[in-house]
Amino acid sequence: MKNNNLIILFIADIIGKPGLDIATLYLPGVIKKYDADIVIANGENAWQGKGINEKIAAEYHSIGIDIITGGNHTWENYKIFAALKADENLLRPANYPRGLPGKGFLIHTVKNGAKIGVVNLQGRTFMQPIDCPFQSANFIIDKIREETSVIIVDFHAEATAEKQALAWYLDGKISALIGSHTHVPTADERILPGGTAYITDAGMTGPFDSVIGMKKEIAVRRFMTFTPHKYEMAEDNVKLQGVVVEVNPKDGKAESISRINLP
Ligand code: FE2
Repeated sequence: MKNNNLIILFIADIIGKPGLDIATLYLPGVIKKYDADIVIANGENAWQGKGINEKIAAEYHSIGIDIITGGNHTWENYKIFAALKADENLLRPANYPRGLPGKGFLIHTVKNGAKIGVVNLQGRTFMQPIDCPFQSANFIIDKIREETSVIIVDFHAEATAEKQALAWYLDGKISALIGSHTHVPTADERILPGGTAYITDAGMTGPFDSVIGMKKEIAVRRFMTFTPHKYEMAEDNVKLQGVVVEVNPKDGKAESISRINLP
């Protein structure tokens, strides 16, 4: 069902070249199938599994990704600093310390003129002790709601509880809170009572014969020996995952959320 509703496509954390390759293969068909108005993708693992640069961000845009979100790994490729300045559709979590380049939210205008706010926040439980995502969300959402009530939040966080808590806190103020970072899709997609679509984690666009995208043999060695072994990206059993959310543009409330898992 579409009518005048907005269709938001969120592509789960894209891992390196295997992730980009499968997104290149499937994304045009997925965009067409759902008649998507906006495509948002988490790209913090774009460059060999950690970080992103300007060239890769341009490739993402060339296959139909409008907005790229980030996370803790965003900062691990120093070229991100130039990319964040050059690419106005590349986000990083809004609640990192002041003074860092880039931005954590924007308002995107789609073809029919509707405006969609996109916000990138990061959790603090089992992660860096950055600014409070709850307080940061208050400020940002108030600002965006001056222009539009359609707001999508990518909450990049480790802890399920923190993701659920932020979703309940923002229920009715945003259209969707989509979790990223764990690379494992959860089966809890739902519409909360206030009209906010929620999923704890959208999953991963990358190689599944792996430990969250990295070569499993190296991950096993790291866990068994507690000594550093450089992670390498895995390559096999690559899938595209994500969610599609349908939002009523009049009030910003979500009408449906469903998972995508290809092939
Ligand atoms: Fe992450």
